[in-house]
Amino acid sequence: MNKSEMIDRHSLFDRLCHWFIVATGLVTFLTGLSFFFPSFQWLGAIAGTPEQARAVHPIIGLMMCLPLMLMLVRYYHHNKWEKHDLPWMLAIKDVMFENEDKIPPVGHYNPGQKVLFRAFVLTSIGLTVSGIIMWQPYFAPYFAPETVNWAILIHAVCAVIMMIFVLVHLWMATWVEGSIPGMLYGKVSRAWCRKHHPLMLNEDSETEKHQ
Ligand code: HEM
Repeated sequence: MNKSEMIDRHSLFDRLCHWFIVATGLVTFLTGLSFFFPSFQWLGAIAGTPEQARAVHPIIGLMMCLPLMLMLVRYYHHNKWEKHDLPWMLAIKDVMFENEDKIPPVGHYNPGQKVLFRAFVLTSIGLTVSGIIMWQPYFAPYFAPETVNWAILIHAVCAVIMMIFVLVHLWMATWVEGSIPGMLYGKVSRAWCRKHHPLMLNEDSETEKHQ
């Protein structure tokens, strides 16, 4: 494809951050599941032994959540709610059935992605704060047992919500053809933008005008 037909969508830094989050997220979720459900205990083998899984989980979890928070801050300006987002939401049936001529145009991210973005913000903060409070033997002794119990509950709820949203995110990423190569190589074609995020082309030309 002609190079001028390709548009930057994700910087190298954001791509490295994203795939680092995926790798650390995988270890965090697998070790977390190993102590959440007794029937998944065998998943702890990913860290060696169940004891090692317990030791590794909070460290790798932080290595996932901190870059995720950084990435969310960097993507904040693309995820503000815009006036064209509600019509897209109301046309969700046409989106699902791919009635392309009936789908209202959206910008850099569609409202579905913006909802996921908000879920990632809430769950990454919830997991980090609750995870630190319940971290034995380092931080938990500084908190009242009741606070630690609440932290354990909040941690589990946030983990389940994040896992569900990650699965939705994965489904959306594979459903929209060209989206994963965009996150791998950083660029998408103009045709892809016209099809999936037409207002993004206006946003980018506005930004260029003001530079
Ligand atoms: C194998 C698993 C994953 C795949 C294949 C994947 C794929 C993608 C793709 C293709 C994009 C770009 C979407 C676009 O340009 O429109 C993206 C963006 C993003 N991903 Fe993932 N992802 C995965 C896992 C995760 C996980 C585990 C998290 C965090 C918990 C995450 C957080 C994000 C964030 C914050 C963005 C930025 C876009 C936004 O604000 O919505 N991803 N991902």
